[in-house]
Amino acid sequence: MNVTIIGCGYVGLVTGACLADIGNDVCCYDVDANRIATLEQGGMPIHEPGLREIVARNRGAGRLTFTTQVRAAIEHGDIVFIAVGTPSGEDGSADLQYVLAAAQEIGRYMARFTVVVDKSTVPVGTAERVRATIAEQLALRGSDALFSVVSNPEFLKEGAAIDDFTRPERIVLGCDDDALGERARELMKRLYAPFNRNHERTLHMDVRSAEFTKYAANAMLATRISFMNELANLAERVGADIDAVRRGIGSDSRIGYHFLYAGCGYGGSCFPKDVHALMRTAHENEQELRILQAVSAVNAAQKQVLARKIVARFGDDLNGRSFGVWGLAFKPETDDMREAPSRVLIATLLEHGARVAAYDPVALEEAKRAFAADLDSKPEALSRLTLVDDQMEAAKGADALVVLTEWKAFKSPDFAGLARVLKHPIVFDGRNLYEPLALAEAGIEYHSIGRPG
Ligand code: NAD
Ligand code: UGA
Repeated sequence: MNVTIIGCGYVGLVTGACLADIGNDVCCYDVDANRIATLEQGGMPIHEPGLREIVARNRGAGRLTFTTQVRAAIEHGDIVFIAVGTPSGEDGSADLQYVLAAAQEIGRYMARFTVVVDKSTVPVGTAERVRATIAEQLALRGSDALFSVVSNPEFLKEGAAIDDFTRPERIVLGCDDDALGERARELMKRLYAPFNRNHERTLHMDVRSAEFTKYAANAMLATRISFMNELANLAERVGADIDAVRRGIGSDSRIGYHFLYAGCGYGGSCFPKDVHALMRTAHENEQELRILQAVSAVNAAQKQVLARKIVARFGDDLNGRSFGVWGLAFKPETDDMREAPSRVLIATLLEHGARVAAYDPVALEEAKRAFAADLDSKPEALSRLTLVDDQMEAAKGADALVVLTEWKAFKSPDFAGLARVLKHPIVFDGRNLYEPLALAEAGIEYHSIGRPG
């Protein structure tokens, strides 16, 4: 099938590459000419395990092309995916300007029956706005080309995106209940058939429910995390171990083990913005989602939890102190710095006068950009942050090491070596990576989340 992807970010690139890999002819379009040039030259604008190989393989086979030529891109697709960003607007609602700009381009250039797929995470009712935008453009040029808008939200996780896309737990398809919607559904079923071979994973529903499902899923996952973080803080007060509690409740199949890890707060491009967007949708419909207000507030406080522990340990004035940081991206296996807890923690340490040396296996370039933007008006603070490309180098001479993501390379460090390079053998662990006993044996003072010790 001929497929067009609008937007070559995490979702667009993964969707395009994986659909090309099963034999479709995929054209990926982006307004960002640098991004397209990088891809055309065999480069990769994002870090996502396995993606580079799939892109290279399919480019080589001629099934995957990249372009900034919008007309050619849209004329190419029987199915056109919109996979552009939907960042938070000022009031917390999803900013739909990129989605509607893409819809406008589709209306301007589509020439035959086209299935338009909302892959971006968009609020309930967006498909109708996309439809109206396309129809307006078609009317302007007197075209009677037919189309149908489908909601097909994406559930992939960064760092595991290829696996999530090719072996999905479910594919949600929201189609209109009319002849064009039926035609669209049939095409989408054919497109996804290779992922449904072992058992049918597609859930068919109406468009609005599909749009809602995506927000409900992210909001539920964020809720579990904030709930566990709040319990972790209580566990510290009452002398319980949140990790034991996690195992204790996770073993109840009604609860399950996933997404119960307490830590230094959730980050990323989606949980924070999607929780806010859903709250905003509720507000616009005269309802307040009180649970999500709490989820969001707990998360904001949790991003400061390690800073609070550090200040409690060293005092409010951190002038002359230095801290090593391991892990900058919002989670392992990605270079994505959007809403990363590291941005909050490091800014706070710098604000208190400390120096920081930080390391991440893949996110250093992105981190450089993120901190330059965050600390644009505070050049002196920025000058006390060094990004280093060696794990142990970050810890060298530091008053303490702070661990913020659970990269494999951080899981079993040489504790004795670590204790030797640190000025003070102290570790603050935002992901509960270590056995307190192992650190005690190495003579390291250990602070983690929701655990004694
Ligand atoms: P991203 O910011 O990585 O990429 C978006 C891309 O769209 C950019 O390359 C940008 O240049 C391009 N773009 C913007 N406007 C355009 C236009 N009019 N025409 C062509 N290209 C345009 O975004 P992302 O992380 O891939 O997220 C995309 C959507 O998918 C969002 O709605 C997000 O919530 C959702 N989502 C993201 C993830 C994830 O893990 N990142 C997972 C599931 C769903
Ligand atoms: C999340 C969802 O898991 C995906 O299903 C969804 O498609 C995506 O958002 C999206 O809509 O963009 P992602 O943000 O890539 O995926 O990463 P997650 O693995 O969900 O982690 C999000 C944040 O939660 C990270 O900061 C992580 O450290 C934190 N987290 C996760 C916890 O603190 N505890 C946990 O138990 C799990």
